[in-house]
Amino acid sequence: MASGETKVIGQGISRIDGLLKVTGAANYSVDFPIKNAVYAFLVKSTVAAGTISDIDTTGAEKSPGVIAVITYKNAPKLAGQGNLKGGAILQEPKVEFYGQHIGIVVAETYEQARYATRLVKVSYSKSDAVVDFDKNMAKAATPTRSRDASRGDFDTAFNSAPHKIDFTYETPIEHHNPMEPHAAIAEWDGDKVTLYNASQGVGGTQGAVANAFGLKPENVRIISPHVGGGFGSKGSTWPNVILTAMAAKVVGRPVKLALTRQNMFNSVGLRQRDVQRMRIATDAGGKITAIAHETTTHTATTGEFVEGCGGLANMMYDAPNAKITYKVLPMNVILPTFMRAPGESTGSFALESAIDEMAHELKMDPIEFRLKNISMTDPSNGKPFSSRATEAALKKGAEMFGWNKRKQEPRANRNGDYLIGYGVAAGSYPARQAGTSAQVKLTRTGNDVTASVELAAADLGTGTYTIVAQTAAETLGLPINKVGVKIGDTTLPRAAGSGGSVGAASYCNAASEACAQAMTELQAKSGRQYFATPSIVELMQAANVTEYQARADAKQGPEAQKYSCHAFNANFAEVWVNASTGMVRVARNVAVTGAGKIMNAKTARSQIIGGTVWGVGMALTEESVLDPRWGNFVTRTFADYHIPANLDIGEIDVAFIPEEDHIVNKLGIKGIGEVGIVGVAAAVANAVFNATGKRVRDLPITPDKLL
Ligand code: MOS
Repeated sequence: MASGETKVIGQGISRIDGLLKVTGAANYSVDFPIKNAVYAFLVKSTVAAGTISDIDTTGAEKSPGVIAVITYKNAPKLAGQGNLKGGAILQEPKVEFYGQHIGIVVAETYEQARYATRLVKVSYSKSDAVVDFDKNMAKAATPTRSRDASRGDFDTAFNSAPHKIDFTYETPIEHHNPMEPHAAIAEWDGDKVTLYNASQGVGGTQGAVANAFGLKPENVRIISPHVGGGFGSKGSTWPNVILTAMAAKVVGRPVKLALTRQNMFNSVGLRQRDVQRMRIATDAGGKITAIAHETTTHTATTGEFVEGCGGLANMMYDAPNAKITYKVLPMNVILPTFMRAPGESTGSFALESAIDEMAHELKMDPIEFRLKNISMTDPSNGKPFSSRATEAALKKGAEMFGWNKRKQEPRANRNGDYLIGYGVAAGSYPARQAGTSAQVKLTRTGNDVTASVELAAADLGTGTYTIVAQTAAETLGLPINKVGVKIGDTTLPRAAGSGGSVGAASYCNAASEACAQAMTELQAKSGRQYFATPSIVELMQAANVTEYQARADAKQGPEAQKYSCHAFNANFAEVWVNASTGMVRVARNVAVTGAGKIMNAKTARSQIIGGTVWGVGMALTEESVLDPRWGNFVTRTFADYHIPANLDIGEIDVAFIPEEDHIVNKLGIKGIGEVGIVGVAAAVANAVFNATGKRVRDLPITPDKLL
């Protein structure tokens, strides 16, 4: 089944877990009905740096229903902090950011726990905190894990070029805010612990919990069958998980801890603020000769995280001279982490705005300028791209969008009070397959065969259940309703996490290989030869078995290493800018993606729509604002952290470029989780420039910046 026509794969089948979800039967982490469970609520610091000089828990302890108040004074000592992000698990009185977890109250009810946290009296000996990035930016230094890159001689090429631009682009801190906040239930049985936990990868969480409590990994079970979004924030294990397990150990009962929406802003990561200087130079004909992408950002004092903003500038355009650098400033904030297309989404805003500026400088159509500067070889490593849909996506998108109606000159398209503009951006995201095992259990009654495909995968609402079932149905020759899927449990074969867009490729290839393995073994067992591929029903009958089980350990083949494997896309936006108020409305988005095999037309389209909506939010409204006096976020609800609602979004047209790329992996899947957001903000910003003649280089593009 490695290539050619597929019957079930690719179909726009509705989510097989959809009914469970809409009827409320799908259990998310804290939904699991656990007997005798009690509730926990976090106490968070109200200073950004210092030491707790006194913490008085007596009032809280006497409050009705309270079972325990745990602080650094009485918390069990942990064995380690491996695989754990964000620091602060009550081991010491040190405070490193506003909102750090400094205590946990456990009570019979959620309300009792929450109320009692207010009775915990904390005094601090404050120290100087670094919370103002812009003021301290000059102190940023090369990260300990450098990813600077260069080729040729950028400075010479740039200085001698006839056409050049040099601009700096800024993006604010953003927060993930998945629909389901981070939450867990912990239940101990002797020295074994089970956690029902919202997780993008149960294997990683298992490792972190085992490390924290000095347990063997097999004594830690993570259960996470349904996850209400993650976007990277659930890709690592944050202290809330360890604190849930710690509390359960202390009180000797199962403990539930669900973060509130407000907690989410300083408990589980964020997208860091990036300041990106872009320099691009071309020859007289518009061929790029030099490109530099220099990022200055911040991390936390508790750890280092630097998103790879310059990754795209290194590989998208065929510049012989390039320079990619990073500088990072440790600050007293929660540790930044992966957020949907970490680096590529923010990096593409800078790169694709700069490309648009360069095209404008050259008086060249921005699509033509891009096409002139792409090649089928990755300039960052000299490897050929396994496939690259940039040209096809730009051309198809231009046709769908009606790009030919665009006026090259800004402010040339007006309708009453509105200035109308068209913008475009290209994008990319790496395509990878991570090692994943899967097993298939087959059961036959007469000529009725059912299959259960099992692997410790995650479904963040993306459609993992459905595409794994489609893969198995296709491979086994079964109708999809005969295939069940079990995921999200560390007792199942180990699988990659759902992050970095590796989920679909890793899970489906493993499922396919496990099913193919069952077919091969059964055929050998049957002792027969077949001219056409037999179905699993025929094989089980021929082999005279009613139960059968097979397993595969799948990983990316060696061929992929010889190539540069990426998904590519193009985004188009039409904006209407109110000339009097500066309000921007995105009337239309067109998103065209080449991401190899599209496993499910419906869920894939939804993924791209999600990326587009987020990109519009990134362009126009999303911004987390830190109060420089305290280091807390003043934007900590959806009333002030603005994400697009239905009325903020216009038409979204989604198309895929058909690709058969079996270099990237056997099934030819590149992944679409991240690429959908890449380039969207730049397309909007470029459209705003086309509409108004005003270039906004710091997101979000709020009305004040246009007046
Ligand atoms: Mo993604 S930001 O790797 O969940």
